[in-house]
Amino acid sequence: MAVTGLIMIAFLLMHMYGNLKLFLGPEAFDHYAHWLKGATEDGGILYPVLPAGWFIWIFRFVLVLSVILHIWSAASLVLATRARQGDKYVTRKTKAQTYSARTMRWGGVIIAVFLVFHLIQFTIIPGSFGGNADEPHTMVVAGFEQWWMVALYAVAMVLVVMHVRHGFWSAFTTLGGNTSSRAASVLNGLAWIVAVVLYVGFMIMPLAVLFGVI
Ligand code: HEM
Repeated sequence: MAVTGLIMIAFLLMHMYGNLKLFLGPEAFDHYAHWLKGATEDGGILYPVLPAGWFIWIFRFVLVLSVILHIWSAASLVLATRARQGDKYVTRKTKAQTYSARTMRWGGVIIAVFLVFHLIQFTIIPGSFGGNADEPHTMVVAGFEQWWMVALYAVAMVLVVMHVRHGFWSAFTTLGGNTSSRAASVLNGLAWIVAVVLYVGFMIMPLAVLFGVI
């Protein structure tokens, strides 16, 4: 869970950075999107180390594998916890937990549903909510010109960053980084920073589209 979670957090930070390219203009954003897919004249990202167009598929393979292993680990943990808890009639004491920690399971399920919607909108049926895949900025603008789409993303991103905040903390704890109260507060601070950066960094672009800045 820890390793696949951190791979996905790294992806989110890169994805957020890439989305901000829309502030540099539609050409910059479209060029970046095509470059990632190896569809630019220079052969795209990592060309000629990799043949043009290979990177995106290797990247997608790693991401899909991470999602599958992450969900599989979560399901195994849930089953193991249930087996340990045994008799349901024994009184269970609720431990002091943050809101994020308590919502990891359902939060994760809702994020998975959001991801399916998101991939339909931009990757599986590109342009299903307006715009076209040849000029990816048109899909973004057509989508986020609608207030309900921005509202949907604003809510989904709250769940994403809550999941990331607790997940970041948990991952480094699993990997042995939480060894003292000082380490715990550094980890907690870093987890909050990553969560806030992701929320602001992801939402600023849709809001700029909605309010006509882009
Ligand atoms: C406000 C938040 C977000 C915005 C505006 C956004 C925007 C986009 C856009 C425009 C694309 C298509 C890029 C292209 O065609 O080149 C895309 C693809 C994608 N996004 Fe997002 N995204 C957001 C949040 C997320 C989140 C939270 C996740 C993961 C949980 C995510 C995962 C993906 C994935 C996996 C792809 C497909 C990449 C590929 O084609 O291989 N996105 N996103």
